Amino acid sequence: MNRIEANNIYKEFYVKSQHENVLNGITIDFQQGQTYAITGVSGTGKSTLLHILAGLEEPTSGQVLLDGKNIFQFDNKSRNHFLNKQVGLLFQQPYLIKELSVLENVMVPGLIAQKSFEECKKRAGQLLQQVGLEHKKEQLPMSLSGGQQQRVAFARALFNKPTFLLADEPTGNLDITTGKKMIELLLQLVVENNMGLIISSHDKYVAEQMEQIFVLQDGMLK
Ligand SMILES: Nc1ncnc2c1ncn2[C@@H]1O[C@H](COP(=O)(O)OP(=O)(O)OP(=O)(O)O)[C@@H](O)[C@H]1O
Ligand SMILES: [Mg+2]
Repeated sequence: MNRIEANNIYKEFYVKSQHENVLNGITIDFQQGQTYAITGVSGTGKSTLLHILAGLEEPTSGQVLLDGKNIFQFDNKSRNHFLNKQVGLLFQQPYLIKELSVLENVMVPGLIAQKSFEECKKRAGQLLQQVGLEHKKEQLPMSLSGGQQQRVAFARALFNKPTFLLADEPTGNLDITTGKKMIELLLQLVVENNMGLIISSHDKYVAEQMEQIFVLQDGMLK
């Protein structure tokens, strides 16, 4: 059983001699196959926490452990495996590659994992169908709406069936109906693939679909 453990995480930012304590001692345990919501007002540190859990940003102090191993002390091979297979991060912004088609964007994680081009194309097509965008697959991301781009990012984050999916405001750009569909898709994957799901959201409905709800306030989870 995979688990991600955050141990006494602190994060401070210094910008132009301004100092901000964003996370003030976060300790929490996430289990594979379970669902978690992190809520809290804007600017409270939700994205910062998810980036740290995904290994993209180092905490000022404290550790993130995957099955007891510190993710910031991985060698290159373990780090690549962690980023490509174990944790999928769905950023608050879609960050699609603007020169690649929608289909090619979704294929990228598979190509990095050295799967065959044909296999990647097939899986990317299936994922685009699941997020309702198969008809847009040949287009460039810029020609899609914000919500459509977010759904392409969804498909890309799911490509390698991550053990944990960290989703930062996944329904932020979506209408209520499409947002509900995306949450249903994620919850289906939790069951089918025993995926762990950690979502940050302002949306009460989205948060309430998760088994555990935490509020990030004053740098601490409550
Ligand atoms: N790279 C950075 N450098 C300096 N300050 C940062 C950096 N990233 C985040 N911050 C600061 O940390 C605080 C928390 O930001 P964060 O993006 O984690 O909030 P959030 O809870 O995700 O907000 P939102 O709900 O608006 O997405 C903010 O005050 C922000 O200015
Ligand atoms: Mg955020």
